[in-house]
Amino acid sequence: MTASISDTLLAWYDAHARELPWRNPPGRALPDDPAWPYRVWLSEVMLQQTTVAAVKPYFAKFTTLWPTVEALAAAPEDEVMAAWAGLGYYSRARNLMKCARAVAERGGFPSTEAELRALPGLGDYTSAAVAAIAFGRRAVVVDANVERVVARLFAIEEPLPAARKAIRAAAQGITPQTRAGDYAQAMMDLGAQTCTTRDPRCLLCPLREACAARAAGDPERLPVKPAKKVVPERRGTAFWITRGQGAEVWLVTRPDKGMLGGMRALPDDGWSAQGDGSGAVPLAGEWRSLGAVRHGFTHAHLTLEVKALETGAAVPGEGQWWPVSRIAEAGLATLFAKAAALALV
Ligand code: ADE
Repeated sequence: MTASISDTLLAWYDAHARELPWRNPPGRALPDDPAWPYRVWLSEVMLQQTTVAAVKPYFAKFTTLWPTVEALAAAPEDEVMAAWAGLGYYSRARNLMKCARAVAERGGFPSTEAELRALPGLGDYTSAAVAAIAFGRRAVVVDANVERVVARLFAIEEPLPAARKAIRAAAQGITPQTRAGDYAQAMMDLGAQTCTTRDPRCLLCPLREACAARAAGDPERLPVKPAKKVVPERRGTAFWITRGQGAEVWLVTRPDKGMLGGMRALPDDGWSAQGDGSGAVPLAGEWRSLGAVRHGFTHAHLTLEVKALETGAAVPGEGQWWPVSRIAEAGLATLFAKAAALALV
């Protein structure tokens, strides 16, 4: 009898697994460390829509500052938001805090997929991934990498997102009963490194003999993607307001709801994913234009003009004067860090 897909993949993983800071080496028993589920959960939240390379320094920072879920739950929210700055998709950081508090309150992470799914902010993917990787529970873990591998293995021709049902059913059929965490991460590694979106490296693939898309000759075509949505172009203005000859700058904290919610930011003219800003300045004075920055969000592309004013007047609304020499510690989201960089050249 030929080896099953999962046996073949696990043997490949034993030899080729990536060494990652949140990972247990292949074939090992689950670590006997109370912080182990926390580390797995944290890494999985960070890795959503974000590359391994981008996550590594953030994972190191978070686990140094907050080594346990209890420590994270007790941390001031603005410090956590500031530590997340630059990683994007900021609703993840707000949900991270909610989940950490819920877990600390109940005395630790639950170990089943269903109980994990009930925690704040844990979707199908994260609850399956944590159940499998942190607790060794069989779970069908499907992220975009796994979706690609499975769509190709079984030559699933239906376009996404409708194909997800068939992909999940096929993934369910090949998920083994044992080595749940290794198998989930083997699929991820294969998708990230071998069964890549463009130019898949089929000659290096342990599953090439079983792959229906490869047999059909054009694996790169799958999964069939939906037509690309046109992303709207937005315009807005951010304000670099200083006092003391540029010694301090006025920063605000964005409302919890909405884009970049809860993050420290420069004041702006109210642009959003739905509309352009008013362009209206918050204070009268001799404004200077510093130029513009471009930033891509999932739902909009933004051109943000940056205007500067040195003032002795009180700035209307809530905010704080922040030392410009310590702007790197303010935890500005990437968009506003780019805007600040214009002021600091
Ligand atoms: N992407 C999401 N989770 C991952 C993991 N545990 N290892 C590698 N890549 C991942």
